[in-house]
Amino acid sequence: MCGIVAYVGNRQVTPLLIEGLKRLEYRGYDSAGLAVVNDEGIHVGRSVGRVSVLEAMVNENGGFNGTLGIAHTRWATHGAPSEPNAHPHGGVTHEGHRIALVHNGIIENYSTLKKYLIKKGHTFESDTDTEVLSKLICELYQGDIEKAVQAALREIDGTYGIAVVCDREPHTLICARKGSPLIIGVGENSYIVASDAAAIISHTSQVITLEDHQVAKLCAGPEDKLGDGGPWAVQFKTTTVDNIPVTPEVTQLDFDLEQIELHGFNHFMQKEIYEQPEALRNCLRGRLDHRDGRVVLGGLSRYSRELIRAKRFILSAQGTAYHAGLIGEFLLEDLAKVPARCEYASEFRYRNPIIEPDSVAIAISQSGETADTLAALREARDRGALALGVVNVVGSTIARETDAGVHLHVGPEIGVASTKAFLGQVAVLTMMSLYIGKRRFLSDEVVRSYITELDQMPGHIERVLEQFDHIRACTEHCIDRDNWLFLGRGYNYPVALEGALKLKEISYIHAEGMPAAEMKHGPIALIDQGMPVVFVATQGSQYEKVISNIEEVRARGGRIIAVATEGDERITQYSEDVFYVPAVPEALQPMLTVIPLQVLAYHAAVLRGHDVDKPRNLAKSVTVE
Ligand code: AGP
Ligand code: GLU
Repeated sequence: MCGIVAYVGNRQVTPLLIEGLKRLEYRGYDSAGLAVVNDEGIHVGRSVGRVSVLEAMVNENGGFNGTLGIAHTRWATHGAPSEPNAHPHGGVTHEGHRIALVHNGIIENYSTLKKYLIKKGHTFESDTDTEVLSKLICELYQGDIEKAVQAALREIDGTYGIAVVCDREPHTLICARKGSPLIIGVGENSYIVASDAAAIISHTSQVITLEDHQVAKLCAGPEDKLGDGGPWAVQFKTTTVDNIPVTPEVTQLDFDLEQIELHGFNHFMQKEIYEQPEALRNCLRGRLDHRDGRVVLGGLSRYSRELIRAKRFILSAQGTAYHAGLIGEFLLEDLAKVPARCEYASEFRYRNPIIEPDSVAIAISQSGETADTLAALREARDRGALALGVVNVVGSTIARETDAGVHLHVGPEIGVASTKAFLGQVAVLTMMSLYIGKRRFLSDEVVRSYITELDQMPGHIERVLEQFDHIRACTEHCIDRDNWLFLGRGYNYPVALEGALKLKEISYIHAEGMPAAEMKHGPIALIDQGMPVVFVATQGSQYEKVISNIEEVRARGGRIIAVATEGDERITQYSEDVFYVPAVPEALQPMLTVIPLQVLAYHAAVLRGHDVDKPRNLAKSVTVE
């Protein structure tokens, strides 16, 4: 979902901006651009396609000299992906000064503002909403770029993360946010601003996360330009859009560059699939108390009484996180014996939902920036629910807006298709269910048994991953088929949904997931000779029912691919391909049964020659509605 990188300091800015944009490429975009300020003015470069296209174009022009610049990768919301619609956008003030601006988000009242600005004599070169903001800043500019930005933002409805420069103030970078993340890296003689810490971590680990409605003025330059002592000076100031001073909090990034490199893997998705045993160990670390037979979730301890008294849990999320939430729904009812329901956040937020007293809302999100999930959380909280988060990115908007929460601690997830984050979400929801269950009706013996099983899960995942090449060989047989079904029951029904999503989003093969029994109520008409049908058929309370469903599909010529429990020989009678997982309690099966489906999707994408880490049209974090 688009990205911003901006810098003011004592180094040549163009290579820094290009490197930063490349670290944000995984977030998805359709075009890119940058603007560099120097004594001759503002130099702009924009292009459609990959950052490498922009880099080549800038280099052909001999590169732009300067130590102040802004850059952007766009995920179009208003105006097609094209060079004129690519950012930066800009304009000229009444005094003839030029400004350039990059923006993440949506200006919802851009149409009204555009009519006003056209009446004021402004002309527009693009179809974007963003250009309206840049022209509004020009209109309101009276010699101070910070004040012009504040004044313009007070007129804006919608969401923004922005970085702005003006040729009259060649050592000043202005940035601001409302609803789209923006992080400021505090360097020794410089500031680097980005929408994601991945673009900052190679420069500094000291960061300031802007809050909504905040504006930062960052200056760095020779002391005679800034009036501070010493040969080089930096100045930092944060205010609200009403120019009320705000004291920023400097925090430490909780990951390093090492964690966002490929390390010999072919793709980040492959790396993150293989990272899952270690990622799960990190997620569980310090949270399973074997001695006292309990789950320790420090982030929830302040609210344990509310959790015990809770009458209902409402989980909300999108995509893969939604599938994890569905499993969380089953876990809460199964282990904590409390009513629970998982909703698509985008539906929940507009449904005028009934939130009874003693309700608990749980927002599940890897990025912590998904607009619909954030809105659903706010909706539930504003109606009186206790707001919890199950989030991976520390300091993300959702993480900061909850009353409490549990971080995944699975490390940065770079691949657009979520793998280790899903595993972490399910693990955290399992631990939360045990945490609450122990304080309600779950026996000490049952809690201890689950804790022992959880401890063994990373090793089980390593065992499943030994089938990586076997799964590739099986995938090759079906790679030419354009329609797949994924079926499962109980805890494995959401796993079927997740398997279908994985295949769709990176191999572009159409796939549908559903409860295995539901297949008979229509979709069975799709079954034709050789159609790949993936069954999550591990042994458990509904195993015989799943076998019946498998036979119904076989009778119609479907090709059966089964995820089964180690030692189950019977399943081989019905299946062309079998991927085995170790035997674990049903409630823990999703953390294992999802692994072969992730690997299958990965191989399908590679075999079809697609960009596994940056699938077409997708974005890592959907920060627009
Ligand atoms: C996952 O493979 C997808 N890329 C997507 O569905 C994702 O899970 C969804 O957009 C939610 O993102 P979040 O977890 O960051 O909120
Ligand atoms: N709404 C703006 C546009 O369409 C910004 C999109 C983005 O966040 O990249 O250009």
